[in-house]
Amino acid sequence: MSFPRVPWLRAGLVMAGAWMASLANAADKEPLTVNWYHSAPFLQPVIDEFTKQSGIAVKVTDSYDKFDTDVILVSDYKSLTEAKKLNSFERIRSPDLDAIVPARWRDRDGGWYGVMLRARAVVYNKALVKPGEIKSYRDLADPKWKGKIALRSAANVYNRSLLASMIVHDGYASAAAWAKAVRDNAGERPEYSGDTGNIWRVAKGEFALAFVNTYYICYEMAKGREKTNGLKLADNLGVAWLDQDRAGQHVNVTGVGVRAGTTRKDDAMKLVRFLLSQKGQALLSQNVFKYPVRSDVPPSPLLQSFGNFRADDLNLNDLELHYDEADGIYRAIGWKSWEE
Ligand SMILES: [Fe+2]
Repeated sequence: MSFPRVPWLRAGLVMAGAWMASLANAADKEPLTVNWYHSAPFLQPVIDEFTKQSGIAVKVTDSYDKFDTDVILVSDYKSLTEAKKLNSFERIRSPDLDAIVPARWRDRDGGWYGVMLRARAVVYNKALVKPGEIKSYRDLADPKWKGKIALRSAANVYNRSLLASMIVHDGYASAAAWAKAVRDNAGERPEYSGDTGNIWRVAKGEFALAFVNTYYICYEMAKGREKTNGLKLADNLGVAWLDQDRAGQHVNVTGVGVRAGTTRKDDAMKLVRFLLSQKGQALLSQNVFKYPVRSDVPPSPLLQSFGNFRADDLNLNDLELHYDEADGIYRAIGWKSWEE
């Protein structure tokens, strides 16, 4: 385009251009958004380091299941699959990220990458269970635990993913028999609780054991709940890593992706890459108490104090076809679910 010869028109065009550029700059200064769901202050130190390194301001929101932020963090493979079905993710597959995150912990279509591992392990009361007494999820089916297992509702996505993984490993019949036996052990009308509630019920000795995502232990410590409850969790709770002589400890992921249609794709990818960098992984482990997906970053000292484990090598993408079966099993055996 050539500039007009009329001076005032030329000046006007220059001014209009400057105005449009300033609008674009203002838009650039809007913070990048990312969602978080387990208390934003835990994620904030990780985000602060990203902002320090990149100069990109970030706002953390708690819009957990709306998938409306530029960078989408979602926990559990099942929830990631729901977000993917809503076409929430830009395709972000890239060879360097593929080299960092093993195929079993990332979307096979390149929509998201696992960024942290969540281990669903057994916590037990040290006075009621001996170390080594629980070695496998299968041990929970033993009738000797009748009335001693604190359960969480089967409507919970973590339990649905757990049973789906058992179906993949052991087949439908074996997984169904396991679920029925564990449900029977909880008695006729069990009182269900969330992972946090079950951690305290076990720590207080009301139950011998529960299976929970272990980061909830750390959240309770960090929130000062030991003081409120007058009880030290580490003194009372043991963590049993499961299936170490079988497929490995059941794990799930928190995945990260970029929202389809965001105008901030480049900045969003910078945050994704930071979260998957060695620095980002170490900070996540220290601050949100989950396990790095990178094999070259050790878990934080607090996580290591619970002992180390070998994670299940199951490809999480294989779970997708088994949720209906898992849900059907839970309904059939009366492990509290959606209808109740
Ligand atoms: Fe959680």
